[in-house]
Amino acid sequence: MDTMALVTMGPLLKRAQAARYGIAAFNMIDYNSARSIVEGAAALDAPIIVQVSVKTIKHWGYKAIAGWVRMLADDVDVPVALHLDHCSDADVIRRCIDAGWTSVMFDGSALPFAENRARSQEIYRMTEAAGVGLEAEIGAIGGVEDDKFVAEDAAILADYDECVAFVKDMPNLAVFAPAIGTAHGFYKGQPKIAYDLLARITAAVPIPIALHGGTGLSQEQFDRCIANGCAKVNISTMHKHRFIEGFVGVRTEKPKLEEPLPFIAGQYEAMKKDVLDMIRAFGSAGRAAHAAGLEARP
Ligand code: 13P
Repeated sequence: MDTMALVTMGPLLKRAQAARYGIAAFNMIDYNSARSIVEGAAALDAPIIVQVSVKTIKHWGYKAIAGWVRMLADDVDVPVALHLDHCSDADVIRRCIDAGWTSVMFDGSALPFAENRARSQEIYRMTEAAGVGLEAEIGAIGGVEDDKFVAEDAAILADYDECVAFVKDMPNLAVFAPAIGTAHGFYKGQPKIAYDLLARITAAVPIPIALHGGTGLSQEQFDRCIANGCAKVNISTMHKHRFIEGFVGVRTEKPKLEEPLPFIAGQYEAMKKDVLDMIRAFGSAGRAAHAAGLEARP
């Protein structure tokens, strides 16, 4: 396969959902992290989504992030999408689109349903005009994402009828994120995933589903979510932990080391190992050409 540069994630996710595998979406932290994500995917010939939290953009700037990910994508033979994670600010969304993001998430889940739908539709018109994919959310996913906190017991499952009504006027939505009982961060107890609700939404809505809160789910939970229509699987917390552990681990092993590059290398290896593990867990290894629409295999 020739290099493909950055692609939009909607078509990748549609193919993944039809063939029942999940495409990993990792929240990148810096260049080393983005590199571990893209090169990890390339090592397994898997499609990949590099997603970015608003606070990470505020730290590094739009141009730096878009430049890093575009450069990394240019060097590999797998489809790479650059996605904006949870964002409720239309101005940030616009700036990401202008800087070269290939998809964005509008998170209006804190708004009343009618307002969330109206705002999501406005953003949908903006993304459609720009040729960029959109992810939209309803219900409330528990835990912390960026500066938003939803207590796990205050998380609200998406309402089935609202899901159907929500996506009706957004037929080209790249991915839909209904809250199904998962949460951001490490789980305190066993998550109660509403598989029946997920299956009913997937049957009624012709749009791939995003699984938020991937950190800490078991292989069986991933399998059941993917079998029931989740095509985008988000991992952030675990990646952040590997970023820190990888660096600190080198210090523990070699307390006298003064050269910084081995720390960066240790951090890269720790993050990449997790990227490989997750891609295998989601069944997307070897699926780059399939996801890109370059393969006849169903
Ligand atoms: P985790 O932090 O639980 O992996 O969730 C990531 C996520 O869903 C980002 O939107």
